[in-house]
Amino acid sequence: MKAVIQSSFEGITALKLRDILEPHMSAMSVLIKNRYTPVIPWDWLSEEGQLQNFNPVKLPRIIGYSFGGIVEKVGALRNQKLLGKKVFGFNPQGTHTQLINSQIPPLLIEVPTKVSLEDATTIIGGADAALLAVKQSKIRHNDIVLVTGATGGVGSYLIQLLKLMKTTVIAFTRKENYSFAQNLGADYIIDFTQDIKHQLQLVPKPNKIIDTAGSVPLLDTISHNYEKLTIFSLSLPKYKPINSIQTFSFSNKSIGIKGYQQLLSMLENKQISASINQILPFQEVIQAQQIAKFRPSQGRILLEY
Ligand SMILES: NC(=O)c1ccc[n+]([C@@H]2O[C@H](COP(=O)([O-])OP(=O)(O)OC[C@H]3O[C@@H](n4cnc5c(N)ncnc54)[C@H](OP(=O)(O)O)[C@@H]3O)[C@@H](O)[C@H]2O)c1
Repeated sequence: MKAVIQSSFEGITALKLRDILEPHMSAMSVLIKNRYTPVIPWDWLSEEGQLQNFNPVKLPRIIGYSFGGIVEKVGALRNQKLLGKKVFGFNPQGTHTQLINSQIPPLLIEVPTKVSLEDATTIIGGADAALLAVKQSKIRHNDIVLVTGATGGVGSYLIQLLKLMKTTVIAFTRKENYSFAQNLGADYIIDFTQDIKHQLQLVPKPNKIIDTAGSVPLLDTISHNYEKLTIFSLSLPKYKPINSIQTFSFSNKSIGIKGYQQLLSMLENKQISASINQILPFQEVIQAQQIAKFRPSQGRILLEY
């Protein structure tokens, strides 16, 4: 079977498609026919070696963090009812491969019938981070929340979750994504490629920022413009606001199984929807990551297996 292999820290273009042996089943295995993996910043940051201090990886390795697929075989010590079911989850041994051997029960989640596998595959590294941000920022219904990276794989869920909580949302995006951000529910839009100071004067004063863009100069410009502000970032572990009465925090905690069940039921009830930009064959992984990294984002790109 084929797998996408990283064997250096030379970045996206050094990835190689290789033949590897099929996984060996154990009593703890659930063997999954992989259908989709999301293309997320974690992928190219790992390939560039930028996460080595935080999440060291040994090379060569199969890339990828999460997947969505169909269960093909179930080991004797696992839940036999999983056979034939749609599932998504994490796999520490990598996910960009045609068959996945999932051996840690809490890392595999069944997808309800009414939720598509494509949509479920956008949850990890997308909706889960958005839910974490909402919880960590202690969002209340009258908050005015400024969101950076508003049209990305996380941001596109974040706007929807914030609107469900009846907050006012100021979305930072670029001109070509205005209607995409508006359709997600953004109340005000700021073009981060233009004069930000001037545009901030035309929108209500935010009391909270949720940052998914991870740009220090951008946060500095926003921070400089206000007095009291609560800043939460998913992308910058450390940041010192310009104004000392402003607070800053970062988190990368798990939302736990309850959080994932909550997101699945929100997708099932159509309270939120997945934004899938495009689906490319996994053989085009290099192109897919380059599009995700360098082109304006509208939700998530998936690879298909
Ligand atoms: N802490 C956690 O647990 C956790 C979990 C998941 C993800 N994350 C992090 O969350 C961040 C967002 O992830 P994602 O999947 O949403 O990424 P994504 O789909 O690539 O989207 C990134 C967004 O940020 C915007 N952006 C990038 N650089 C910018 C800049 N200098 N100024 C303004 N906007 C900028 C992009 O705008 P354009 O596309 O228009 O350029 C895009 O809207 C990443 O840093 C990721 O590592 C953290």
